[in-house]
Amino acid sequence: MAATIMSMTGSTTPLFSNPHKSLFSTHLPHRISAQPTRPNSLSITCSSNPDRVFNFAAGPATLPEAVLKKAQSELFIYKDSGMSVMEMSHRGKEFTHIIQKAENNLRELLSVPENYSVLFLQGGATTQFSAIPLNICTPQDSVDYIVTGSWGDKAAKEAQKYCNVNVIWSGKSEKYTKIPGFGELKQNAGAKYLHICANETIHGVEFKDYPEIENKDGVVVADMSSNFCSKKVDVSKFGIIYAGAQKNVGPSGVTIVIIRKDLIGKAQGMTPVMLDYKIHDDNNSLYNTPPCYGIYTCGLVFEDLLAQGGLGEVEKKNVKKAGILYDAIDGSKGFYRCPVEKSVRSLMNVPFTLEKSELEAEFIKEAAKEKMVQLKGHRSVGGMRASIYNAMPLAGVEKLVAFMKDFQARHG
Ligand SMILES: Cc1ncc(COP(=O)(O)O)c(C=O)c1O
Repeated sequence: MAATIMSMTGSTTPLFSNPHKSLFSTHLPHRISAQPTRPNSLSITCSSNPDRVFNFAAGPATLPEAVLKKAQSELFIYKDSGMSVMEMSHRGKEFTHIIQKAENNLRELLSVPENYSVLFLQGGATTQFSAIPLNICTPQDSVDYIVTGSWGDKAAKEAQKYCNVNVIWSGKSEKYTKIPGFGELKQNAGAKYLHICANETIHGVEFKDYPEIENKDGVVVADMSSNFCSKKVDVSKFGIIYAGAQKNVGPSGVTIVIIRKDLIGKAQGMTPVMLDYKIHDDNNSLYNTPPCYGIYTCGLVFEDLLAQGGLGEVEKKNVKKAGILYDAIDGSKGFYRCPVEKSVRSLMNVPFTLEKSELEAEFIKEAAKEKMVQLKGHRSVGGMRASIYNAMPLAGVEKLVAFMKDFQARHG
C-alpha cells in the first residue's frame, strides 16, 4: 500500500520545465495523514490544509491549488499597484496587462489562429445560446442542432426565438447516452451553422471527434463549457467556440468566446449591445466593466496549464483519471453502472448509478465524511456524478475509487 500512496502523491505534482514555471513556485503535495483504522488510500487529504475537501462539483468547480494560493498571495496588494485586482480600474495599465496576458496565454494554449478573436464576456454560456443566432443569422436563416443532452436542448430552444432551428439528431429517447455517427446525420443544405455541445455536463457524453458542416458557407459552433482547455482542439474547425469559465478555467462570471473574425459585425438590428460581438471585439472586451477578478483568475489558470506543459499534457492526465474511475465502475460487477456508451464517455463528468439505488444517499453521506463532496447527480437524472475537471488531482480520483471499493465491500 505504501508504494501506491507514493504514486498517488508523486503523480499529482506537475513538472515545471517551461518558461511559465517561475510563476507557480510549486504545486502543493497531497498530504497523507496517518489514520490506521481506515484503508490507507482513504486517508489521503486534498492538500496542505486538511480542511480542504475533494470537490467533485460540476461547476463552479475545484480550482488548482497553486492558483488559489497565488491569488491569495496577491489578493490584498497586486504586485506594485498598491491595491487589489478587485479595486483597480479596468482601464488602468495593470488590468490592461492582466487581460492581455490572459488572452495571449489562452491563444498559446489552444493555438488560436490569428483570424480568430478571443472575447471575455459575461452572462454565462446561457447568454451565448441567444447571442450566437442573433450575431450570425437573420430570422429567415435555418440552423442545425445535434442534441446530445440537456445543454444542447436548451441551446436549441433558445435559438428558436431568433432563427429557424432544425434538431437534426436528438439522443433524448435514449436518455442522452450516445453521440450519432456523423454519416447518419441529415444536414440542411443551407444551414448557417451546425451546433454541438462538445461535452454534456449532466449526462457525461463527450464528442471525441467533431462533425463538419456540409454547407460550405456555414460554420460549426460548439459549447465547450465543460471540457474547455481539457485537451487539444483544432480551433480552425469551428466558427465559434464558447465556454463558461467555472468548470475548467476559473470562477463563474466569465464567459469566453473564440470567434472567427469574419463572423463578427453581422448582428441582427435588435441585438442588445451587450450581446453584439462587434461591440466587444472593437473594445477588446472592455466595452463595459468586465468581470475583472474572474478574468485575472482565469489568467492564473492559463499560466498554470502552460506550466503543466500545455493541453497535450493536461489531456494525458485527464485520460488517466477518467480511465481509473470508469474501470472501477465497469469492474464492479454491476454494483456501479455508467449508462453512457463507452466510446463517448466524458473525461470530465462521470455519471453513475448504484444497482441498489436505495444506497445512493448513504454513498453520498459516507463520501462526504471522507471529505469527498458534491457527488450527487444532477437533479434531472439522479444517481451520482463525479466531475473530474483539470484541477481535480489524480489523488482525488484514486481516493474516490478506493472509497467506492470499500463501500461495495461493505454493502455489496
Ligand atoms: C455544457 C454547458 N453549457 C451551458 C451551461 C450554462 O452555463 P451558465 O450557467 O454559465 O450559463 C452549462 C452549465 O453548467 C454547461 O455545463
